[in-house]
Amino acid sequence: MSNKLGGKVAIITGGASGIGEATARCFAVHGVRMIVIADIQDELGQKVVESIGSHKCSYMHCDVTDEDLVKNLVQTTVQNHGRLDIMFSNAGNMSKSAQTILELDFAEFDRIFAINARGMAACVKHAARAMVELKIRGSIVCTTSVAASSGGERDTDYYMSKHAVIGLVRSASKQLGVHGIRVNSVSPYAVQTPLLNRHLGKEPEEAEVAELFYEPYASLKGVVLKTKHVADAVLFLASHDSELITGHDLVVDAGFLGK
Ligand SMILES: NC(=O)c1ccc[n+]([C@@H]2O[C@H](COP(=O)([O-])OP(=O)(O)OC[C@H]3O[C@@H](n4cnc5c(N)ncnc54)[C@H](O)[C@@H]3O)[C@@H](O)[C@H]2O)c1
Repeated sequence: MSNKLGGKVAIITGGASGIGEATARCFAVHGVRMIVIADIQDELGQKVVESIGSHKCSYMHCDVTDEDLVKNLVQTTVQNHGRLDIMFSNAGNMSKSAQTILELDFAEFDRIFAINARGMAACVKHAARAMVELKIRGSIVCTTSVAASSGGERDTDYYMSKHAVIGLVRSASKQLGVHGIRVNSVSPYAVQTPLLNRHLGKEPEEAEVAELFYEPYASLKGVVLKTKHVADAVLFLASHDSELITGHDLVVDAGFLGK
C-alpha cells in the first residue's frame, strides 16, 4: 500500500479488461479515492468493481466513440466525487482483418479511428475541460503503442491511429501546460490481453508469447511484458512522481524499439 494517489479521483476507459483493469487494480493499492471504470463490457466492468470494492471503484457504461457519452462520463464523475484528477484514456481496439494498404477496408478504418483516435481526443477534451474549470492540475495519460513509432506489415489503420495519439498528446500537452495539466502517453509492446489473443486468434501460453515477440526482438532477455508493467508506468505518469513530465511517450517494451 502507498499513498501516491491519495485523495485522487480517476477515470479509466477500457478498464473492464487487460491493461485498463490492471491499472485500476494498481491505482487501488496506491491510495486512490475513487476509480471510475468506463467501458462497453458492462458485466466485466461490474466484476472488476466487485473485486476492487465499490467504496473505491465504480462502473459507467461509456462508448468512447460517442462524445456525448464521454462528456456525461466526466460530468457524472465530477458530480458524484467532486473532482477529476486523472484521466487514463486507454480504450482501444484492432481490426479483425489484416488491413494491408492494398486491401484497406475504410469502414473498418473508420471504426478503428473512431475508438483509437477520435475517442481518445474526446476523453482528453472533456477531462481537460473539467480540470480547467475546477482548477485542478491533473494528469492525463493515453495508451498508444510501439505501433506509434514504426510501420507495420499489416494493421495499417491501427498503426496510423496510434501515431495520431502521439500528435494528440504532444498538442494537448502544449495547450494545457498553462493550466498545470500534464498530458503523456504510454506505449506498450505486446502484452497478453484479450485484444492480443483476438489478434493472434488464440490464447498462447507465456512461453509462446516469449518465443513470438520477446526472444527474437527484445533487448532485455528472459522477460515477457505483463499488464502490471504497463500499469506501473501509468501510475508513474499519473502521480506526483512525474510532476515535471509532460508531452512524453513512455515506451514499455523491454527494448523492442531500441534494438
Ligand atoms: N495488448 C497489447 O499487446 C497492446 C500493445 C500496445 C497497446 N495496446 C493498447 O492498450 C489498450 C488496452 O488494450 P488491451 O490490450 O488491454 O485490450 P483489452 O481488449 O483487454 O482492453 C480494451 C478495453 O477497451 C474496451 N473498449 C473497446 N472499445 C471501446 C469503446 N468504443 N468504448 C469504451 N471502451 C471500449 C474493451 O471493451 C476492453 O475492455 C488499447 O488502446 C490497445 O491498443 C495493447
